[in-house]
Amino acid sequence: MEFENKVIDEAIQGTAIELTNQGGDGKKKLYLESYGCQMNFSDSEVVASILAQDGYETTRNMDEADVILLNTCSIRENAEQRVRNRLTEFKIKKENNPELVVGILGCMAERLKKNLLEEEKLVDLVAGPDAYRDLPNLIEEVGTGQKAVNVLLSRDETYADISPVRLDQGGIAAFVTIMRGCDNMCSFCVVPFTRGRERSRDPHTIVQECQDLFARGYREVTLLGQNVDSYRWNLSSKGEVKNPEEETTNFAQLMEMVALVSPELRVRFSTSHPKDMTDDVLEVMAKYENICPYIHLPVQSGNTDVLYRMNRGYSREWYLERIDAIKRIVPDCAISTDVITGFCGETEAEHEDTLSLMDIVEYDFAYMFKYSERPKTLAERRFDDDVPEEVKGRRLNEIIDKQLAHSLKSNKKQIGTIQKVLIEGPSKRSEEHLCGRTGRNSMVVFPKGTYQKAQYVMVRIDDCTSATLMGEVVSVC
Ligand code: 5AD
Ligand code: SF4
Repeated sequence: MEFENKVIDEAIQGTAIELTNQGGDGKKKLYLESYGCQMNFSDSEVVASILAQDGYETTRNMDEADVILLNTCSIRENAEQRVRNRLTEFKIKKENNPELVVGILGCMAERLKKNLLEEEKLVDLVAGPDAYRDLPNLIEEVGTGQKAVNVLLSRDETYADISPVRLDQGGIAAFVTIMRGCDNMCSFCVVPFTRGRERSRDPHTIVQECQDLFARGYREVTLLGQNVDSYRWNLSSKGEVKNPEEETTNFAQLMEMVALVSPELRVRFSTSHPKDMTDDVLEVMAKYENICPYIHLPVQSGNTDVLYRMNRGYSREWYLERIDAIKRIVPDCAISTDVITGFCGETEAEHEDTLSLMDIVEYDFAYMFKYSERPKTLAERRFDDDVPEEVKGRRLNEIIDKQLAHSLKSNKKQIGTIQKVLIEGPSKRSEEHLCGRTGRNSMVVFPKGTYQKAQYVMVRIDDCTSATLMGEVVSVC
């Protein structure tokens, strides 16, 4: 279904990104493609950094590559299918160039382990999300004619000391990983199996990275984690202080430390979990103008029984209370969500509860998916994937239609207001226009004038679609 794919593509950053960081000649060349969530894109920057130290430079041209790596996603069946198709293309390439090393990284590597090497013979190298430091050795092993694999998950790897090679072309907004893994065990989700136990990164290295980014001209950081609200430095999973010499840091405190790097540095974060999102995080957001008033708070379903089957750890009422807290403490905060339709046993009435919750919250934006059963998850073991495909699709369409109406309503409310926009660069559709985001994360397009990327400007909003605001600059900040 065309529209569903579009929505999913946005959510998993669908199209493969070719990374650009070319340098001089004579170096070994790495071609890296990333699929899936922001965490994967951020990991690819760590991979590029590790391999840069081993003499590799990245290339956009896969024909000149010595090594091709795909950083992959397992979250839904269709994400994996796209990677398999891509690997089949690379297999043909390899037949013409036997020296070429093709490797798979990330969640699919972790999930399928040796299968891709041995049964399907699609790749030479498999490295899971905690094994990237081993990549130079693994590539060397392949060079000696062996198949190389490292899918060990770690309890403490955070790549804290690695300075990621920034691979985006914009150079304005960067993702900074603050924690890895996930301990939540939502019953639909493969992530705990592919990314292992939750662990937080040393806050000093995070602040240092943000300071470096700011000094290099970046004006926005997004603090990334599977569940940022459970960020804890210096506390063990049992709640004991690990190092009495050092203070403990929670997410609210970390965000404050990052906000203090500079008032000119915007701070965003993703993803929050409704069961863990505390008022102190909201209070820090309200206190600092440079922490963007935008929260991604995945609901998944608006029905308490479905949430229980999903093992989400909250009820419909709890979730709505958290929404009230956001609206109370951070007025005018934009809120987005994730919704899954057709989860195991979802009845028509339960689906209606999701629609009614959407009417109450009126999300500014949503990522919406049909449930896709994933091997080894709690849901696969406990429940039947019993909602027929066409019912999942119909419910998804109802949810998408509702969201489009809410997004349009939310954007229309912005018409006539003046918004602070960080300029990201030329608009994709017109050379005469620039684009940038508001703190609420809405994309704004406006005539380019003499304004520059990375500048903050005040834009009067004159018009909108459900996806974009249009306006004109009224002053420079
Ligand atoms: N099927 C469909 N959607 C899923 N998600 C996670 N696992 C699945 C699955 N098995 C969605 C959730 C999550 C987002 C990142 O992907 O909505 O929040
Ligand atoms: Fe996909 Fe989840 Fe892995 Fe990200 S963590 S790449 S969304 S499976």
